[in-house]
Amino acid sequence: MSKYQVDNRGYYGPFGGAYIPEMLFPNVEQLEQQYLEIMNDPSFRAEFDQLLKDYVGRPSPLYHAKRLSERYGATIFLKREDLNHTGAHKINNTIGQILLAERLGKKRIIAETGAGQHGVATATVCALKGLECVVYMGEVDIERQAPNVARMKMMGATVVPATSGSKTLKDATNEALRDWINNPLDTHYIIGSVVGPHPYPDMVARFQSIISAETKIQLLEKTGKETPDIAMACVGGGSNAAGMFYNFVDDDVRLIAVEAAGHGVDSGETAATTVLGKEGVLHGSRSILMQTEDGQVVEPYSISAGLDYPGIGPQHAWLFKSGRGEYVSATDDEAMQAGLRLTQLEGIIPAIESSHALAHLEKMTFKGDEVVVVCLSGRGDKDLDNYMKYFNL
Ligand SMILES: Cc1ncc(COP(=O)(O)O)c(C=O)c1O
Repeated sequence: MSKYQVDNRGYYGPFGGAYIPEMLFPNVEQLEQQYLEIMNDPSFRAEFDQLLKDYVGRPSPLYHAKRLSERYGATIFLKREDLNHTGAHKINNTIGQILLAERLGKKRIIAETGAGQHGVATATVCALKGLECVVYMGEVDIERQAPNVARMKMMGATVVPATSGSKTLKDATNEALRDWINNPLDTHYIIGSVVGPHPYPDMVARFQSIISAETKIQLLEKTGKETPDIAMACVGGGSNAAGMFYNFVDDDVRLIAVEAAGHGVDSGETAATTVLGKEGVLHGSRSILMQTEDGQVVEPYSISAGLDYPGIGPQHAWLFKSGRGEYVSATDDEAMQAGLRLTQLEGIIPAIESSHALAHLEKMTFKGDEVVVVCLSGRGDKDLDNYMKYFNL
């Protein structure tokens, strides 16, 4: 068993666990006792694999970005999660969780969303299965990710604005947890990242591990070796990074996670959790989060709704603390420039979240023979308005 994966008590080193109100105990306990059994069941696996193939369009390509590679002097591959149905990696997890919810006999689905990609992915699988869907979304995010709100509504979901705090992802998560506490019997909460009480971080990471499982096969085919020198991804809660790292944590691969620095790590307007955070409990698990001296959560900021979160999942806290992973950050400006650069070098408009991972390439030095895989977690359609405004286009 890898020391970087969850242990049998639900912990990654000192991080993880299930810090939940008593009302949620039966739900979380039921999940904990059944998730592995359900996920390992051959009929579950067959339905999951078939939907990933025929509905999501997997495997997603591993694309050798030649002009990007020339710019940086390394061999750079992009794992094209942006080409998935609904436009991001989030659908891998929602397909898995809707099949799980079905087997648990749940009829009502709730979710939180920041960029709206997880909300869209949840509304999509609810339409697919004919289940009721309620998505909590911060008021600020409803405005800056309007196309995704329209998509959710068109698929029949109810989008409920979260109006407290910074009116972003943290606040939407609070509202979703509150809903679950009030409706524990018929409702399954599809958490969209590797956060929340155990077993969510492990369950979501397992559903997203398809990203690195495919990458291994594709790299072997393209380079003759199944591991890259470096695997990179952006980190909000950390699910695309967890999926990208999952099958490489015990290999000789540098793992680089890029957080959102907002206006700069010292600006007071940032979401660079590992730079500023301290250990504590957020949304049901022990991790690292941005907090005041007396433990109040600090309101985060990022131009990217999907990275605008004051914490990271417990596995990331452990990869950071143990030194196994390298945690860095990119500012709004660095990310926006990186998004435009990819668009003009490769003809691919990335989600602003993914642009953060790309931005870090500018700060790296390469010897020339490294193989780098960057997880391109989503496409930029939802962000066109933001790009247009930022660049005065
Ligand atoms: C395209 C995209 N990438 C990344 C993220 C960040 O989430 P995570 O860190 O869980 O991958 C989001 C969140 O909404 C997203 O939409």
